[in-house]
Amino acid sequence: MKHEIFEKNSILLVIGILVVVSIGGIIEIAPLFYLENTIEKVQGMRPYTPLELAGRNIYVREGCYNCHSQMVRPLRDEVERYGHYSLAAESMYDHPFQWGSKRTGPDLARVGGKYTDEWHRAHMDDPRSVVPESIMPGYPFLAKTALNYQKIADDLQANRSLGVPYSDEDMASAVADIETQINPDSDNVDAFLARYPKAQVRDFDGNPQMISELDALIAYMQMLGTLVDFDLYQADAFYR
Ligand code: HEC
Repeated sequence: MKHEIFEKNSILLVIGILVVVSIGGIIEIAPLFYLENTIEKVQGMRPYTPLELAGRNIYVREGCYNCHSQMVRPLRDEVERYGHYSLAAESMYDHPFQWGSKRTGPDLARVGGKYTDEWHRAHMDDPRSVVPESIMPGYPFLAKTALNYQKIADDLQANRSLGVPYSDEDMASAVADIETQINPDSDNVDAFLARYPKAQVRDFDGNPQMISELDALIAYMQMLGTLVDFDLYQADAFYR
């Protein structure tokens, strides 16, 4: 038998194992170097606006991910309840991602547009005022706390260093963009929308006197899952 020579010589056996394992390794790993991107490009995805990003920071700070996932799995019951299953591209600008691992409350990946801003205000102030059986804690302080956004450009910079394509202009106007997004009367709205298509511009917390943490959080909630137009999207692998 030919492999007797390996079985009787441990050094040769080790070299043999190394050769076989590295062939397997190269086949698995090498394509990742010449594939430009392992995430399918999907139309509509754009980086978060500074206000949405600030809202996302509050979502992370308050630990909303402990009770809420942001990933619709490709299973029938989930797709019927929440909508189209989540695409990898939909969390490509999330650092860190918010897929979560526990659903005490519902999945939030597509909650954008499901409720009005008024509903979110009441729900954040006291969840039981709109959902009597809710066990979610209230966050009434968000409406009373002014958003600290003077350093928001640093957050954009941190995301940019991780590959999120914020432009120099986005960085320079980050603070102004927050003020623009809650003020539909601002002259800068068109320029803002050109850089952040589909961004929603309005006063989210219903209090024009102050840019509150609630403004940022509702702006974030209302955009979740709204960027990709699923009437236009065709998943190659699934439908061909
Ligand atoms: C202790 C667990 C818990 C935490 C923490 C929590 N939630 Fe909830 N959440 C729930 C539960 C349970 C529900 C379902 C009942 C309801 O609508 O209040 C819910 C519902 C929601 C809904 C409505 C979803 C839908 O589709 O009806 C939103 C939006 C929401 N939560 C946002 C948040 C945000 C934002 C935070 C962080 C500031 C947060 N939640 C923190 C448990 C939690």
